[in-house]
Amino acid sequence: MKIAVLISGRGSNLQALIDDVSKPGGPGEIVLVLSNVADAHGLKRAEAAGIPTTIINHQDFQDRVTFDAAMTEAIEASGAELVCLAGFMRLLSTPFIDHWRDRLINIHPSLLPAYKGLNVPQRVLDAGEKEAGCTVHFVRAEMDTGPIIIQARVPVLADDDADMLAARVLEQEHVIYPKAVRLIAEGRVTVEGEQTLIDARPADVPDNKA
Ligand code: GRF
Repeated sequence: MKIAVLISGRGSNLQALIDDVSKPGGPGEIVLVLSNVADAHGLKRAEAAGIPTTIINHQDFQDRVTFDAAMTEAIEASGAELVCLAGFMRLLSTPFIDHWRDRLINIHPSLLPAYKGLNVPQRVLDAGEKEAGCTVHFVRAEMDTGPIIIQARVPVLADDDADMLAARVLEQEHVIYPKAVRLIAEGRVTVEGEQTLIDARPADVPDNKA
């Protein structure tokens, strides 16, 4: 499977995907890393792995729809069949999301539908949660919604600060994102009635054993 990864920054999830596709029997090939930020560290990771990169700066476009159309053009030119958002910090327009429907996935550092949006670790701590986690999901028009593919849970520990909790969650992100990509590449994932099916059975979130 040909994969495009969209980033805006650090790119640690991109790295997890690069590492996984490089393994023997990996899920496919990352054919494009697209960033809207020229100095995103993830671009260096892509270059080190010999992956083509493109920078499309949202500030060069008059609105979201034209920016997104330029991204679609670049992604299509790459031949990508799956688009992975990995710390891509722009909201996407409905035409883009509809165009890539069920071929566009995201990783989010919470157990969705809880804690959509930003600054999740601090909000989780402030709420006194005992458990946190992360989610890979298909993207729909409303931010951080869409059929869930895999979730992973981690404990919130008594002396956690936001950075410690974020690091524990991130470690699991790096496990479940490549896993979700593999399931899709293996043709094991479908979406029916806004529910993800894995091997034709409802994805058993949050303890998916696929
Ligand atoms: C991750 O926490 C991811 O869940 C969120 O943005 C962050 C990106 O981190 N969507 P990185 O750029 O992959 O290191």
